[in-house]
Amino acid sequence: MKLAVINGSPKGEKSVTLQHLRWWQAAGGAAELEVIHVSLEILALTRSRARLAAALDAIRAADALIWSTPVYHHLVPSQVFRFVEACGAEAGQAFRGKLSAILCTSIHYYDTTALDWLSAVSEDLGMTVYGHFSAGMHDLVEAKERDRFFRFMEGFIRAVEADPVLPRNWPPLRPVPQSLSIPEGSFRADLAGKRVLILADRQGEDATIASMVTRLKNAFACGTVDLQSIDGLDIKGGCLGCCGCCFNNDCSWDGRDGFREFFENHVKPADVVVYAGAIRGRALSARWKEFFDRSFYNTHVPVYQGKQMAWLVSGPLGQLGYLRQIMQAYAEVGHANLAGIVTDESGDADSLGAAIDGLAWRIAEWGKTGYLSPRTFAGIGGIKIFRDAVWGGMRLIFRVDHKVFKKNGTYDYPHRHWLRRMGMALAWPVMGIRGVQRLVKARMRAEMVKPARAVVERERLGRSTRG
Ligand SMILES: Cc1cc2nc3c(=O)[nH]c(=O)nc-3n(C[C@H](O)[C@H](O)[C@H](O)COP(=O)(O)O)c2cc1C
Repeated sequence: MKLAVINGSPKGEKSVTLQHLRWWQAAGGAAELEVIHVSLEILALTRSRARLAAALDAIRAADALIWSTPVYHHLVPSQVFRFVEACGAEAGQAFRGKLSAILCTSIHYYDTTALDWLSAVSEDLGMTVYGHFSAGMHDLVEAKERDRFFRFMEGFIRAVEADPVLPRNWPPLRPVPQSLSIPEGSFRADLAGKRVLILADRQGEDATIASMVTRLKNAFACGTVDLQSIDGLDIKGGCLGCCGCCFNNDCSWDGRDGFREFFENHVKPADVVVYAGAIRGRALSARWKEFFDRSFYNTHVPVYQGKQMAWLVSGPLGQLGYLRQIMQAYAEVGHANLAGIVTDESGDADSLGAAIDGLAWRIAEWGKTGYLSPRTFAGIGGIKIFRDAVWGGMRLIFRVDHKVFKKNGTYDYPHRHWLRRMGMALAWPVMGIRGVQRLVKARMRAEMVKPARAVVERERLGRSTRG
C-alpha cells in the first residue's frame, strides 16, 4: 500500500510530527510512504507548474493520504494554505475519493481549530476523513503514546482496505451574496485621539471587503486611521519554524524583509487593530496566515495589551465556527478586547453599513473607557496552556516569555495561595463527615452567594468602590 504524506512542517525531515510516521514505518507499519514536503518546498511548488503537477501525480498514485503537520497559530503553517490554494481546481482529481488521516503535533493550544480546518479542507477536496491524531509535541517518547499511534495507523490501513462509509462533518459551504456596494454613511464615532490600524487584504480583488473597509474608515473621527493592505507588505515568506525567536525575539527573516518593522511600527503602537479579509476556502487567505505565523517572532508575549480588536469579514463566517473561535481567542490571549466581528452574510448593503457604524461606535466607546471584557474559556484556557508549557520547561529557551509571565501575573497557579491551601488541608477531613456534608448541602446556595451579596450590601451602604 502507498500513502501520500503531506508534510506541512517547514522543517522537512526534521519535523517532530513526521517522526511519528518514521517511527511507525520502523515499527513495521505496512505501507510505503511518499512524503511531499509542501512547506519546505513551497516556493518550487508555487512557482513551477511541473513541480506542482508532480506532487499531484504522487497524490493521485497513492492509495490514501495523510496530513502530517504542526499546528501553527490556531491552524496549520501558511505554506500548507499556499499549497492548497495553489492546487486550486486542478487538485480535484488527485485527491477525490481518497481516504485521509490527519496527524498533528502541538502543545494543544487550539489544535481543535486546526483539526477542523484540515477536516473541512479534506472533505472539500473530495476525500473522506478516517480520523485525526493530535499528539503533544513530545508524546512520541512515551511508549503508551506510541502504542496509541500504532493502533490509529492500523485502523487507518484497515479502513483503506475495507472502504467503510464514514461520516462527513463539513457540508459544502453555502455561498454568500457577492459584491455588495455599501452606501456612504453619515455616522461618525469620536475616537478621542486614538490610533486605529485597519489591516486588509484583497482590496483590489474583492469589492465587498473594500467597501466594508471604506465605510468603517469613514465612520471614525477625531483620531488617526492607518489603512494598510497586507498584500503590499514586504513579507517574503512564512515562518520557518526554526524558533530562532526563542531567546530574545530575533527572527531569521530580520533584515531580509519588512515584516518585523511593519509589526513594530504599525501594529504595536495602534490603540485599535481591525483585521479585514475575505474568506478563501475554509479560512482567510494564505497571505493572512503568513502574517499571523510571522508574528510568532513575539513568541508567547501578549502584544495587544489593552487594545480594541475587531474583524470585518466577507464570506460565510457563520458556517466556520472554528474561525470565530480563533478570533475570540486571539484577542483574549493577546490581552485585547474583541470589540466585534461584522460579516456581509446578510447580503444587504444598508444593514451591513449600519452594522459597521455600530462596530465603529463600540470601538470608540470601549476605546475611550479602556473596557476589556472578562476572558472566556477561549482566553482563559489558552493562557493556562501557555502558562503551564512555558513554566513547565519551555522557559529555558523562551526566556522573554518567562520574564513577562512572571511580571504580568500569568503564573497564577492555585498552589501559590498558601493560606487557602492550609485551610483546605484542615477542612478536608471535616468535609468527609456525613453529618457535615448534610449541613453543607442544606446551606450550599446561601453560602455560594454570600461573598457576592456582601459586595452588594457594602455598595448599598456606600462603603465599596468600583476600582
Ligand atoms: C509559528 C509557530 C506557531 C505555533 N503555533 C502553535 C499553536 O497555535 N498551537 C500549538 O499548540 N502549538 C503551536 N506551535 C508549536 C508547534 O505546533 C509544535 O512545536 C510542533 O510540534 C512542531 O512540529 P514540527 O516539528 O513537525 O514542525 C507553533 C510553533 C510555531 C513555530
